[in-house]
Amino acid sequence: MPYSGQQTGGTGCFRCCFSFTLTLGLTSLFMWLSLRTSNPILSIQDIYIPALNKTLNSTADQRIYLDLKLDNGNKDKGIFYDTLNISLHYQTNDSNAIIGVPISNYTLPGFYQGHNKKARRKNWLDTYGVPWDAAVEVIAGGKLAVFRVDLTTVIRFKILFWKTKKHRLVVGTDFGVNDVGKKERRKGTRLKSGVPEMLSGDSPVAVLLVVLSTLLLV
Ligand SMILES: *[C@@H]1O[C@H](CO)[C@@H](O)[C@H](O)[C@H]1NC(C)=O
Ligand SMILES: *[C@@H]1O[C@H](CO)[C@@H](O)[C@H](O)[C@H]1NC(C)=O
Ligand SMILES: *[C@@H]1O[C@H](CO)[C@@H](O)[C@H](O)[C@H]1NC(C)=O
Ligand SMILES: *[C@@H]1O[C@H](CO)[C@@H](O)[C@H](O)[C@H]1NC(C)=O
Ligand SMILES: *[C@@H]1O[C@H](CO)[C@@H](O)[C@H](O)[C@H]1NC(C)=O
Repeated sequence: MPYSGQQTGGTGCFRCCFSFTLTLGLTSLFMWLSLRTSNPILSIQDIYIPALNKTLNSTADQRIYLDLKLDNGNKDKGIFYDTLNISLHYQTNDSNAIIGVPISNYTLPGFYQGHNKKARRKNWLDTYGVPWDAAVEVIAGGKLAVFRVDLTTVIRFKILFWKTKKHRLVVGTDFGVNDVGKKERRKGTRLKSGVPEMLSGDSPVAVLLVVLSTLLLV
């Protein structure tokens, strides 16, 4: 107790003021922690394209099998998904510029996902306009055929009894397909947003709160 006996009116006021700002800071930190939301993690778990399976040696079956995983990692927040719009492209490399050829659109119905829940959506998609001969040639040349999947939807979070405002979720990824028509990487391929996480959703408010409470504490 180095300061015992030295307490004057001044330090008492300082202490009171200090504990007030400390309480305020901790309260806003706590609020930020409990209101903070993270976007779901979406990933492609599996792809199969029979037309690119060299054993079949035929591009007659032009469908694509896509297995999508949606993972709500929030410990205590549910997620409402609006209709999920998904589009696929075949990526060609023309004189060093990557050009995406649209090959499929599909939608998945919106749904509610509870906290810490995972969902799978496995679909056989019809395609149109895939340059199959070019893709087969790329693979025969020992490379991967490159495709891209993009997903757009609107989500809102459920926190206890209320719902946050809606915000758009726009994610996508390239994936390579090998000579048996499977996704090259066995592990899941995550769909990423082009926007850094900090700048999306409600986080600017949260960041401001934390900065404010830190300033108050110092
Ligand atoms: C490719 O086709 C062959 C012949 O139908 C089949 O046995 C094999 O399982 C297919 N490959 C994959 C990865 O499904
Ligand atoms: C693949 O099919 C083509 C024509 O459909 C045929 O000429 C070729 O021999 C076949 N290749 C194999 C490995 O079966
Ligand atoms: C596109 O193809 C050229 C020539 O094959 C290659 O040098 C270049 O790295 C490719 N670009 C991409 C982004 O794959
Ligand atoms: C797929 O969606 C894109 C973008 O909305 C559109 O330009 C294209 O015509 C659609 N294709 C089909 C077959 O619906
Ligand atoms: C999904 O597509 C439908 C129909 O084209 C459109 O009305 C809706 O706004 C799209 N959703 C998003 C999030 O872009």
